[in-house]
Amino acid sequence: MSAHKHAQTHYPVVDLIKHRWSPRAFTSQPLNDDDLRTLFEAAAWAPSAMNEQPWRFIYAHREQTEAFQKLWNCLLPGNQPWARHAAVLVVVLARKTMGANDAPNRHYLHDTGLATANLLLQAASMGIHGHVMGGFDMAKTQQALHLPADLEPATFLALGYVGEAEQLEEPFRSRELAPRSRKPLSEFVFENGLPTE
Ligand SMILES: Cc1cc2nc3c(=O)[nH]c(=O)nc-3n(C[C@H](O)[C@H](O)[C@H](O)COP(=O)(O)O)c2cc1C
Repeated sequence: MSAHKHAQTHYPVVDLIKHRWSPRAFTSQPLNDDDLRTLFEAAAWAPSAMNEQPWRFIYAHREQTEAFQKLWNCLLPGNQPWARHAAVLVVVLARKTMGANDAPNRHYLHDTGLATANLLLQAASMGIHGHVMGGFDMAKTQQALHLPADLEPATFLALGYVGEAEQLEEPFRSRELAPRSRKPLSEFVFENGLPTE
């Protein structure tokens, strides 16, 4: 059966946050272009330093076999077996410089992450799921996509509708069924400064 891994939270966060998770099993259902545009629009409305909007997205539908294959080839072996079933693969790029004078933008990866989070939450609201992947070959990606030096691949995304855990090989099946967990707030939230031992 398909896993629904809603977050078990200690405090009452909105359902959208509870319902987003990172599956590896996807159905064969494609994403339609309007829905995909909605996801990118959601990304566009993320905040960014100086409203620079440093994010860029390159995507391919699974049916666009050659273009999809080109992106899939850039993934590391730990992601390739399950990511080949995604409806859409996206490369998330971040522009390192800002403005007309190409000044360094210290916030390029931060802000691109915010845009990605917006995209994932919008997706969750539409019953679409995304899985962020840092496991890709940087040099291969730069080469395959002919990227200019100031556009850095930040992550890849697998997008689609959640499938059945049973369709996955191990170790992915077990990971798909494993419970989700988070650090307790006491480990990462500090009132009035860090603890002094
Ligand atoms: C920057 C980044 C890189 C990640 N890289 C990978 C990856 O290469 N392969 C993978 O299976 N999951 C990857 N993940 C997914 C995380 O493992 C996942 O988000 C985390 O375990 C929490 O699970 P959840 O998203 O279901 O809450 C990545 C997530 C992020 C944000």
